Amino acid sequence: IRCQSTDTKEPKTNGNFLDNASNLLTNFLSGGSLGSMPTAEGAVSDLFGKPLFLSLYDWFLEHGGVYKLAFGPKAFVVISDPIVARHVLRENAFSYDKGVLAEILEPIMGKGLIPADLDTWKLRRRAITPAFHTLYLEAMVKVFSDCSEKMILKSERLLREKEVSSGEDVIELDLEAEFSSLALDIIGLSVFNYDFGSVTKESPVIKAVYGTLYEAEHRSTFYFPYWNFPPARWIVPRQRKFQSDLKIINDCLDGLIQNAKETREETDVEKLQQRDYSNLKDASLLRFLVDMRGVDIDDRQLRDDLMTMLIAGHETTAAVLTWAVYLLSQNPEKIRKAQAEIDAVLGEGPPTYESMKKLEYIRLIVVEVLRLYPQPPLLIRRTLKSETLPGGYKGEKSGHQVPKGTDIFISVYNLHRSPYFWDNPHEFEPERFLRTKESNGIEGWAGFDPSRSPGALYPNEIIADFAFLPFGGGPRKCIGDQFALMESTVALAMLLQKFDVELRGPPESVELVSGATIHAKNGMWCKLKKRSK
Ligand code: HEM
Repeated sequence: IRCQSTDTKEPKTNGNFLDNASNLLTNFLSGGSLGSMPTAEGAVSDLFGKPLFLSLYDWFLEHGGVYKLAFGPKAFVVISDPIVARHVLRENAFSYDKGVLAEILEPIMGKGLIPADLDTWKLRRRAITPAFHTLYLEAMVKVFSDCSEKMILKSERLLREKEVSSGEDVIELDLEAEFSSLALDIIGLSVFNYDFGSVTKESPVIKAVYGTLYEAEHRSTFYFPYWNFPPARWIVPRQRKFQSDLKIINDCLDGLIQNAKETREETDVEKLQQRDYSNLKDASLLRFLVDMRGVDIDDRQLRDDLMTMLIAGHETTAAVLTWAVYLLSQNPEKIRKAQAEIDAVLGEGPPTYESMKKLEYIRLIVVEVLRLYPQPPLLIRRTLKSETLPGGYKGEKSGHQVPKGTDIFISVYNLHRSPYFWDNPHEFEPERFLRTKESNGIEGWAGFDPSRSPGALYPNEIIADFAFLPFGGGPRKCIGDQFALMESTVALAMLLQKFDVELRGPPESVELVSGATIHAKNGMWCKLKKRSK
């Protein structure tokens, strides 16, 4: 990586998602018409050996906040500027769709929010948004802490067993795998009241969920979309497996939907209308969607909605927790600061919605992790009509014409590590979000200002005027942002409450790969020890 951090070690990299030239070539559209936009001539060799989003960072430093990446006659536009990102995501959001991302995800998520066409999206977004009410989130904090406790209890049991068998008081665990199980259990219970129990066991449904995720990743990295060729689903073994995994999940979701419809009770509907989650046995999103919309709601659409949230809310949160331990373990003094806060606020007890509000440092750690390791690192769009881009912050000229059908990457990674907006951009400094940086008079960019988002528990894209985009922005912004932030805060606080965490090997030995999210190639192996107080 050209801009290597000086104190926090960066992991080694290994190209994967969108990392190879062939994949890019399949997605490129007419680049010749992008006129005078600065051009990064893609040397194909640049794209091998490290994830694409890291090469895009080098080219950003060289060519600025808006450039085209050209391979012969094909090109796509890379945006690393907050003003232009704001234009695409918010001001002109409906002039773009999700392009290649929707093509990859449609077979899995159907007409769920992420790949949905605009008309379906408008209807479903309106139906689902009220389900993420603050009182629902409050109720979910208990689910987050109950599930995290199971993970903690499992680790404590493993530690006891180790002590008995070898007298050692340290265990080695792949925390990436543990967080993945935790996030799956949480999403199952909170979205459709289904207990995967994956922290403690394996099941065909769990295996099918992972199989589906791997296939989504494979499709985003493969040279050409052979799976669109109908016989492939019978001839190619991995495609046959994908179809059978999908069937297992769909059958499971269909069963849950049927059950939710059959058990709909007027008394529950009244409680939900009053947002009385504390007296509901099942406070899941599925219950809300069925109860509030009635049993006539289309089963297929409901299944697509649930599948979308299952996939969108699982790996992302697990990745935040994974990179949190990676960064913290290189900064023991920050672990101690976090543990001091946890002791003062929680003592020995689990976090609650109210106490979580006092865990300010843990919340800042979570957002700082998302700044350094945004999930996903790139947002993907395609122009639905010819577009004119505004000028950017660093003198990028306005008026670039972008033809209909152009593929665009908004590099959240570049924005989050931009030397123009962040001091020491590669350093892990959760405290940075406490420093307010008023607008510095840069034309078109409003600077940092927490007062723009009063009452927000976590820094967001509004405060940073689109220089910080962990959950996207505008109408297609993540619907589960507060859910995910609270979940990560609770899980991280509970882990650090009980354990001291270290990486098993040197930070450089952690190999970084990117699929839909950035993850560790061989897991995040850590040493866990009971906390010495
Ligand atoms: C969309 C990130 C957790 C559901 C998005 C987008 C981002 C994002 C960046 C915007 C994508 C785009 O503009 O192309 C994250 C991160 C998470 C997280 C970093 C965890 C730390 C969740 C959770 C759920 C969820 C827990 C649901 C329970 C969704 C949905 C969309 C979305 C449904 C599509 C929204 C729409 O198009 O209307 N997420 N997400 N996400 N996310 Fe999340």
